[in-house]
Amino acid sequence: MDGTALPHLLTALPGPASRARVDVLARHECPAVTARRARRAEALGAADDDPIVWAEALGSNVIDVDGNVLVDLTAGFGVALVGHRHPRVVDAIRAQSDRLLHAMGDAWPDAARIDLLERLASALPAPLSVMLLGLSGSDAVDGAVKTAVLHTGRHGVLAFEGAYHGLALGVLGLQGYKASFSEPFRPLIHPAVRRLPYGAEEADVDRVLAAGGIGLILVEPMLGRGGTLPAPPGWLAMLRALADRHGALLAFDEVLTGCGRTGTPFLGPAEGVVPDLLCVGKALGGGLPISACAGSPAVMASWGPSRGEALHTQTFLGHPPGCAAAVAVLELLAGDLCERVGDRGSVLRAALGARGFAVRGRGLLLAVELGGADALATSRALMRRGWLTLPADAHGLQLTPPVTLSDAQIEAFATTLAGVT
Ligand SMILES: Cc1ncc(COP(=O)(O)O)c(C=O)c1O
Repeated sequence: MDGTALPHLLTALPGPASRARVDVLARHECPAVTARRARRAEALGAADDDPIVWAEALGSNVIDVDGNVLVDLTAGFGVALVGHRHPRVVDAIRAQSDRLLHAMGDAWPDAARIDLLERLASALPAPLSVMLLGLSGSDAVDGAVKTAVLHTGRHGVLAFEGAYHGLALGVLGLQGYKASFSEPFRPLIHPAVRRLPYGAEEADVDRVLAAGGIGLILVEPMLGRGGTLPAPPGWLAMLRALADRHGALLAFDEVLTGCGRTGTPFLGPAEGVVPDLLCVGKALGGGLPISACAGSPAVMASWGPSRGEALHTQTFLGHPPGCAAAVAVLELLAGDLCERVGDRGSVLRAALGARGFAVRGRGLLLAVELGGADALATSRALMRRGWLTLPADAHGLQLTPPVTLSDAQIEAFATTLAGVT
C-alpha cells in the first residue's frame, strides 16, 4: 500500500474488531471523549454508528483493526497535511529516537529544539522570530494570551463568534464555537473576553477597543472548526490597523490554517497582514504534538529574562522527536508543499463542482455545501463507504485531506458524495 488506495472494505463498518475495541474503550475512557454512538443511536432508533478503530495510516489511507482500508479526508483533524507517516517525518523521528527522546525543557536545551526554533523563524515572516514552544494548539494560544498580558498590561481579549482556540482551561473562555463547551466551567474561565461576530464591522471593533482593557485581538485568519469561512477581504488589515491604534496586540491563530494547509505557508501573512503573534500547531509536527507561539523580539522581550526558573514552561517543552518531525515538515514547506496543496485543492474543487456541489475555503481547508442534506448523516454514510470526513456545519462537510490525495481518490470521493446526498 502506498497511501493512495481507494476504500477497500472487508466488513461492514464498524467491523467486529472495531466494535469489540470500542466496548473496551467505553469501559476505560472518560465517556465524554469518544462517543459510543451505537448506544446513542439506539436510543434515537437510528443505525449503529460506533467509530472505527484506527490501526495504521499511510499517506491518505487509514486501515482499521478489521483490515478495512479507508480514505482520510480529515488528515486526523488537519494534522497529517504532508500525509500520514510521511517518510521524511518518520526518518527524522527515527533518527532522533536513536539519539535523544527527552531533554530538560527550560533547564538544559537540546540540539533538536534549537534546530526547530531556527527553522521556524526562517519560515515565518519578519519580525516573528522568537517562539514559545508548546505541545498543542491550546498551548500556543495560551502563550499568546500570556504574552499580550505581559506586553500591554491589559487582560482583556477580543475574540470572535464561531472561533475555536482549544479547550484547555486557559483558552476555553476564548472560543465562540459552542457555549456548551465553556458553560460548566464558567467560574474558572477567562473573565475578560469580548466577542464580536467573525467579520465584524470596523465601527464595532473600534468601539470595543476604545472601551479599554483589551490587550489582545485573537483571530483565526479563516474560521476553521466554526464553519470553514474565509475572512472578508480587507478584514484582517482592518484588525491590524485598529490593534495598532488602540495599543493591543494582534494574534493570528494559524493552528489549523498554518504550515501550508491553505496553499500558502501562513494564511494571514499571505493576505498581506503580519500579526504581532502567530500560533501554529497541528500540521507543524507531521503527526507528533508540537506547537509554537511566535512573536517579534520586541514583543517577546516583555517576558523579561529567565530568572533561573522559567515563567512559562512545561516538562515536555520542545520534546526532541516532535522538534525533529517539525523540522522535516518545515523542509517540505520550504519545498513544493504549498504548490501541491494548491493543485490538490483545485482538483478536489473541480471534481466536486462537476457534481454540482458548491465549495468554499482555500487550498486543502475546504467545506462542501450539501444543498440542505444533513452533514452528520452524510459524514456517517460516507464513513460506512470508507471515506472519513467531519461536518463543517449543519449542511456542510469540512475537508482537510492530506496533500497525498490522488486523482483517483478525489474522483471516487466526489462520485460517492454525489451518491449519498
Ligand atoms: C484554530 C485552532 N486553534 C486551536 C486549536 C486547538 O488545538 P489543540 O486541540 O491541539 O489544543 C484548534 C483545534 O482544532 C484549532 O482549529
